[in-house]
Amino acid sequence: MNQVGSPVDLGAEQVNELARNFWYSAVLRAGIKLDVFSLLENDTLTSEEVANRIGASPRYTQSFLDCCVVLDLLDKNDGKFVNSEMASKFLVKGKAEYVGDHALHHTNTWASWGRLDEVIKEGKTLLPYETGYVDADTYWSDYMTGQHNRATSGQAHYLVQSLDIKKKRKLIDLGGGAASYSIALCDANPELKAVVVDQKEPLAIAKPLVEESNLEDRITLLEGDFFDTRLGNGYDVCLISGVVLIKPEEDSRRLFKFAFDILEPGGMVVIQDYMRIEDLPERKRLDTMEDLYVLVAFDPGAGDREGSEVASWLEDAGFKNTETIPLPTQLGLVTAVKPSVA
Ligand SMILES: C[S@@+](CC[C@H](N)C(=O)[O-])C[C@H]1O[C@@H](n2cnc3c(N)ncnc32)[C@H](O)[C@@H]1O
Repeated sequence: MNQVGSPVDLGAEQVNELARNFWYSAVLRAGIKLDVFSLLENDTLTSEEVANRIGASPRYTQSFLDCCVVLDLLDKNDGKFVNSEMASKFLVKGKAEYVGDHALHHTNTWASWGRLDEVIKEGKTLLPYETGYVDADTYWSDYMTGQHNRATSGQAHYLVQSLDIKKKRKLIDLGGGAASYSIALCDANPELKAVVVDQKEPLAIAKPLVEESNLEDRITLLEGDFFDTRLGNGYDVCLISGVVLIKPEEDSRRLFKFAFDILEPGGMVVIQDYMRIEDLPERKRLDTMEDLYVLVAFDPGAGDREGSEVASWLEDAGFKNTETIPLPTQLGLVTAVKPSVA
């Protein structure tokens, strides 16, 4: 055995880097929670000044800010720190492209991932508030505002661009969360009204967002389990966004049947989700990890599906003309139509 290491041993650094990866995530999470990116958007400050402003230890703050610099979150000039271009664009609260809540939502699953060996052995989901890592209120608030971040940072734009629903009048948004996409679609289609169905916690986040958008008269929030609530009828569009990924196949199939039943003939169903639509190497990594993420943090029956599989479930529910639409963002679309009566 070679005691001083051999060229083969150089590969160990790849393992070490994988082991350290969570440090990077922790620096990002702390930066968001301490809100240093709002602080360093307009002000250029020394680490002592930052420590003072956030009420933190000067030594730890200096080391933490230097880590932000090596992770391209901050720039440092003459001993003073300021946001990098990336932090300025995506991590300053209040900006349209802010994704800080989404990063908190992802990292709220920290303790669940930390117990991944146990999770794999037992085939169980560990919700963030079940591990005690965050409480249920924080979980829901970060989850929903995080989903809204995703919508406002680009997804809503691509959804609106991809759908020709000018002639549609009544949308049902099943599991509509913060109402993000109903807001965007109603905004872009002045004749459209929407009903957003979800549980109490998401709708509490949705309410002020609908009010801020001045859409209270066109968007109705309907609280309840979409399987057990009277959903009404007369819908000509049904949106199911971010739901298929986190549900077992039988739930998605059941939901598609519900959608079919409540849609008018000629009505359109739109599935928006993480799906395997394009066979690209960068997608493969994301989709593979996403599959495990939803098992860890959502449901033992969840999974990152093939777009073609989702399309076939829609066809089994009675829909026709399925179309699979990749988008430049992480979520793609599958659309289909309920046949008109002959
Ligand atoms: C990943 S979020 C997606 C939210 C929103 N559609 C979006 O794309 O931003 C999934 C949503 O489905 C909702 N949901 C899951 N099961 C549900 C059920 N049985 N009844 C109503 N809503 C449900 C959750 O509460 C959550 O808001």
